[in-house]
Amino acid sequence: MKKTIAVVPGDGIGPEVMQEAVKVLDAVAEKFGHQFDLVYALAGGSAYEKYGSHLPEETLSICEKGDAILFGSVGGPVSEMQLPKWKDCERNSILTLRKHFSFAVNLRPSRVYPQLQSLSPLKPELVAKGIDLLIVRELVGDAYFGVHKKDVADGERYATDEAKYTESQVKVAVHAAFECARKRRGKLTSVDKANVLTTSKLWREVAEEVAAEYPDVEYENMLVDNCAMQLIRDPSQFDVIVTSNMFGDILSDAAAVLPGSLGLAASASLNKDNFGLYEPPGGSAQDIAGQGVANPIAQILSAAMLLKYSFGLEAESKAIEDAVEASLEEGYRTGEIYSGEAFEKRVNTKQMTEAILRNLEKASVSVCNEKVSVPK
Ligand code: IPM
Ligand code: MG
Repeated sequence: MKKTIAVVPGDGIGPEVMQEAVKVLDAVAEKFGHQFDLVYALAGGSAYEKYGSHLPEETLSICEKGDAILFGSVGGPVSEMQLPKWKDCERNSILTLRKHFSFAVNLRPSRVYPQLQSLSPLKPELVAKGIDLLIVRELVGDAYFGVHKKDVADGERYATDEAKYTESQVKVAVHAAFECARKRRGKLTSVDKANVLTTSKLWREVAEEVAAEYPDVEYENMLVDNCAMQLIRDPSQFDVIVTSNMFGDILSDAAAVLPGSLGLAASASLNKDNFGLYEPPGGSAQDIAGQGVANPIAQILSAAMLLKYSFGLEAESKAIEDAVEASLEEGYRTGEIYSGEAFEKRVNTKQMTEAILRNLEKASVSVCNEKVSVPK
């Protein structure tokens, strides 16, 4: 297979971990006989320095020409947030990309690796029940993309954010979530605030209509406040969660902390043509940038998601995931997942990738690739 990937490393640890993910993509291409042509582009603060924009036209054009986008992280240090280089950097780059490419569905898996159970902030008995869930977040509707207004009335400032959902936006997300649930453990929880919000009432109505088309998947509705509690009280009850843009933003951060490190979290943002942007949602981690110690796993797993969802290369994707797990099994740990146990080997960014590449090399090549698609 011959494909072009737009590579957007971004800021902070982005370029460091991207370099490692590219090594893994190169190794997969070599091992499985593919050609991945990588075209680099700037976004975020690094783009602002060169172009005076967080998302220059040139970057959009490179992304448009690619078959998929591998994105790093954007954003500056907290202390410099007001500088023009960083002000609204994430919004200007990430939200614009989502809208531009109509990335309607966002997949955020959260899994506690058996090897890393002790890192989870939850009690061991809860973790032992197994935590492996997927949040499917609607990504182009809700208050994110409604009219934002700030004004003065009766002598005081006020602000409003319009939250809107159309039936088809809900349908796309819910269908995608059912398809995922079918391939996983067959359970879907749709999360809303239907006891208060009209958008949520519509969400629930549409989700239940879609559910009738998937009798093989166990379906339930849950209110978002309860879901936030259940994610901490007993996350093993969840397989796939589908929810609106704003609730998905909040719940996916709560879920991302369960495995104990943001350095392990990958994500995919997909449109109806299975064109996708793949990124670690953990951020640019400016506090550790430039030291070569960041965990490359989130970026590497984002590349694995890219192969699976945009290129249909399931075996290649699985080979990467297995190589990551084997490396953890062998005890390799970057600083933030190192707990000091005797069998652990504390490594830096490059050494972690080397372990993953060694395990990838050992993997057997299988040719049974099956395309996974987001329904139109
Ligand atoms: C995320 C982020 C973004 C969001 C921000 C950076 C705009 O928090 O991808 O979850 O709110 O969607
Ligand atoms: Mg977020």
